[in-house]
Amino acid sequence: MSAEVINGKELAHELRMEMKEQVSQLKQSGITPHLTVILVGDNPASRSYIRGKEKAAAETGMSSDVIELPASTTEDALLQEITKLNEDASVHGILVQLPLPDQISEKQIIEAISPAKDVDGFHPINIGRMMTGDDAFLSCTPYGIVTMIKSKAIPIAGKHAVIIGRSNIVGKPVGQLLLNENATVTYCHSKTENLKEFTKQADILVVAVGKAHAINQDYIKEGATVIDVGINRQADGKLTGDVDFESAQEKAAYITPVPKGVGPMTITMLLKNTIKAAKGLSSH
Ligand code: GUN
Repeated sequence: MSAEVINGKELAHELRMEMKEQVSQLKQSGITPHLTVILVGDNPASRSYIRGKEKAAAETGMSSDVIELPASTTEDALLQEITKLNEDASVHGILVQLPLPDQISEKQIIEAISPAKDVDGFHPINIGRMMTGDDAFLSCTPYGIVTMIKSKAIPIAGKHAVIIGRSNIVGKPVGQLLLNENATVTYCHSKTENLKEFTKQADILVVAVGKAHAINQDYIKEGATVIDVGINRQADGKLTGDVDFESAQEKAAYITPVPKGVGPMTITMLLKNTIKAAKGLSSH
């Protein structure tokens, strides 16, 4: 068996074309959705993500800008910047690129962003609302993953979803979203004993471990859906996932590639959240 590939790049493109239509309608009513990104310091990976975000925003007709602050920026100075953006009615979405330099508490910064402009879905209010199943900005990577699964009409309700990874931005929220869709959810992580025993039961396996090719077909149940969240740079400069694609695709029914998988979906959901913020759809 050879798995069907869920092409995140193509799906992202389709969704952005739909969004372009929505942005055009909003513009006719005098609202141009606007995303402001703050970058503190000069992390090359962050710079590359931000270029991707700006390009994608432009593709949908939205506007965006990047505020670049030096690596020596104090927490107070960044908090002041966020306060200004919270009060600026022309800014609908605020994204502070992580990681931040050591002198700044990420927690303080995330909590300072208005929940109504928190298009990353990282604010505890949005996390809490997601947990209770209320209207919320959903974290972009988990939201993108669920959108990819649904795009193929893969059943979720009653199925066993196994998540490897428990970060606040991917593992925990993707498990919660799948639970909201009535999956039975198991979280595995670096301390899990007998990992394979769990992963081999997974109808949906979400892999976010941060290690190239950590998961191969020995971990996968025949016919499973495998979602690869990893982005690892190989010695030859190419990107690769946490899943050994060649091996896994022999057993899985559906699989996401890297690149062209989850990555383009994350950015797309960020734009979707920004449009939602511009429409004032969240109940904040
Ligand atoms: N750094 C890596 N991924 C992300 C993300 O999704 N949002 C933010 N703000 N920073 C990141």
